[in-house]
Amino acid sequence: MKVLKNNVFCVGATDWRVRYFHGYELSTHRGSTYNSYLIKDEKTVLIDTVWEPLTDRFLENLREVVDIKKIDYVVINHAEPDHSGALPTIMKYIPNATVIVSKKGEESVKKHYFKDWNFKIVSTGDKINIGKNDLMFIEATMLHWPDSMFTYLTGENILFSNDAFGQHFASSKVFNDEVDETEVNQEALKYYANILTPFSKLVLKKIEQIKELNLPIDIIAPSHGIIWRKDPMQIINKYYEWATGKSENSVVIIYNSMWGATHKMAEFIGKGLGKAGIKYKIFNISTADRNDVIAEVFKAKGILLGSSTVNNGILTSLTPILEDLMGLKFINKFGAAFGSYGWSGESSKILEEHLVKSKIKVLQEGLIVKYMPDEQELDLCVEFGKSFAEKILIL
Ligand code: FEO
Repeated sequence: MKVLKNNVFCVGATDWRVRYFHGYELSTHRGSTYNSYLIKDEKTVLIDTVWEPLTDRFLENLREVVDIKKIDYVVINHAEPDHSGALPTIMKYIPNATVIVSKKGEESVKKHYFKDWNFKIVSTGDKINIGKNDLMFIEATMLHWPDSMFTYLTGENILFSNDAFGQHFASSKVFNDEVDETEVNQEALKYYANILTPFSKLVLKKIEQIKELNLPIDIIAPSHGIIWRKDPMQIINKYYEWATGKSENSVVIIYNSMWGATHKMAEFIGKGLGKAGIKYKIFNISTADRNDVIAEVFKAKGILLGSSTVNNGILTSLTPILEDLMGLKFINKFGAAFGSYGWSGESSKILEEHLVKSKIKVLQEGLIVKYMPDEQELDLCVEFGKSFAEKILIL
């Protein structure tokens, strides 16, 4: 049995096997968890559920701490099926229980499960007394769905933040002070980079609101991964910093190459970056993990895209990450493009257009080389990298 604090239990399920997160197409090298919480006060409250295929394990965990029929309230902070999937099963045991949702939550739960349960809609600041303590609600619209909401438990000072502040991290342990914090922090950053980046302005506002509420917070309990008990404000402060779009003076080179010309260019461009004192990482997108690359892009100030030219276009293996760059709406990023060709040479121009569409400022004209780069062209690649680095350094 996993205990958070006094009569608050972690009853969710650990998914040791997931390596590609359901519909989100997100790599989860360390597995994940679907955290659900049970509060025993004068009233019994369940906060969120689990992904439907793990319902049996969830029910076993619940039965260890409570008679399921005694649950009075079910809070659904967010209706995405990884958190609400077991709700229909739970509601068969407690058809008259109150399902607490945000206004948008009522819509999303109904439109997923087509049931007219006893819904109670709450807004920011609303409180429900459950005995010794209260539940308080904070809408978190678009962090990361319209229905998203946080629930705060007074007295125990626990913020149940659903997806926000989570990480895809399976563990036999519960708290951040019980695991390798470097790994947890890496996963938290990857989670933010790949899911929350487009909503960064809202993240800033939400954190400012939470700070203004001046709630004592002993524990931040997200719905994925490890729970923040040691210095819980650290993850709120990290989110604030990430949401500002602060980046480091580094460059990520992302490319694919048909017969090695673009690959060679990437390496020599890297040499140029290095000569100017900029650290860089090179990823061949045909073999690299796209979500890990996005986490690197998130940290870096510069992005260089490269491709061979094929059929007057680019190699299609680049398409998914180009979609990511456009959809994630990174801020304060700077880029340029390069590539190779045999008889037409559109790739660098096309990649430049993608940078522009993704609101990544193009710092210099693209570099394109016919067939394999000769010595002079390799020197040009070095110069290309060096000049890009020098521009990055003064931004
Ligand atoms: Fe973890 Fe938005 O679901």
